[in-house]
Amino acid sequence: MKKTKIAFFDAKDYDKQSFMDSDIKGEFDVTYLETRLTSDTVKLAEGADAVCIFVNDDINKDVIDELVKMGVKLIALRCAGYNNVDIEYAYGRIHIVRVPAYSPYAVAEHAMALLLTSIRRIHKAYIRTRDFNFSLSGMTGFDLHGKTVGVIGTGKIGRIFIDICRGFGMNVIANDKFPAKDSGIEYVSLDELWQRSDIISLHCPLTDENFHMINAKSMEKMKKGVVIINTSRGGLIDSEALVEGIKARKIGAACLDVYEEESDVFFHDYSNHIVNDDTLARLISMPNVIVTSHQAFLTKEALTNIADTTYDNIRSFFADDKCPNEVCYKCDKAGKCPQAHEKKCF
Ligand code: NAI
Repeated sequence: MKKTKIAFFDAKDYDKQSFMDSDIKGEFDVTYLETRLTSDTVKLAEGADAVCIFVNDDINKDVIDELVKMGVKLIALRCAGYNNVDIEYAYGRIHIVRVPAYSPYAVAEHAMALLLTSIRRIHKAYIRTRDFNFSLSGMTGFDLHGKTVGVIGTGKIGRIFIDICRGFGMNVIANDKFPAKDSGIEYVSLDELWQRSDIISLHCPLTDENFHMINAKSMEKMKKGVVIINTSRGGLIDSEALVEGIKARKIGAACLDVYEEESDVFFHDYSNHIVNDDTLARLISMPNVIVTSHQAFLTKEALTNIADTTYDNIRSFFADDKCPNEVCYKCDKAGKCPQAHEKKCF
């Protein structure tokens, strides 16, 4: 049987391991490429049936045209978010599938790990005690119990994060474009969420509509000392405004797993380089900012699910003519879950 050829972009050692460990790998002929898929590298997909991509590959109109010209039929995202793909332009030209859920627990738990690390100064304590400095000066945190957390986006990850917060005895308020019915969640307007929250955690996708939803204006409405957690997409926060908000002591702490200009630096080792991004450098230099390198998803369970679902998506598309995890611009616009259908969108 002819194997389906996959050009696998932005491949890291942990990606390769999980894809090579998958039980269904035998049906595919995978070429692992370290480079990202961009207009400059798209030619490397020549001869492939599908490309497999991640969060920072740049699938613009040119890349889509080139893929179509080369006969590539499918873009398989091995992640949930798809803001890096021009889905509107792709409609009718090339199909796109994603992994809608691989481990919402991984991301929600990472959000809580960042929050606890930040407010209990664990990152500081770790460094101090390794240097036999047992002083507690400057280490005062605050209880989560009784605090109000504002959750934006109450989908798979947001709902799990809410459950975790409730376990800590926190009051939860939320905002979602499509509030979940009968969920017992107290939905409020964004303005009310900014005003009432001690902690704000972002769990919505990045769209044109909510780009920079946390900006100078929304920060003005927030409580002094608010903690902001972003494990969703960097573009949800205006980073320069965040720096100013922290300098003005309005923002008490920021926990960032994502950053709007992350594609230039994240996932690479720049420890021996001068990083040119002054905003990122300023954020990292602040004692109340924690940055992780888009690692919220990175658990064994998530990697296994990503590999299995990606292979399943590609197999369904080519062998069974089905596309249950298709990302379609029309479904997206209508606000309906793209996973609600089995057949291809066009
Ligand atoms: P989901 O699709 O289950 O939930 C997203 C929720 O956001 C939905 O309820 C939707 O109605 C809501 N929403 C959409 N637009 C909104 C807006 N403008 N304002 C408020 N709510 C809005 O998605 P899931 O699986 O919970 O993932 C959420 C996000 O987490 C993803 O879009 C992705 O950007 C990010 N993510 C980050 C990872 C990481 O490693 N840091 C890994 C996986 C996902």
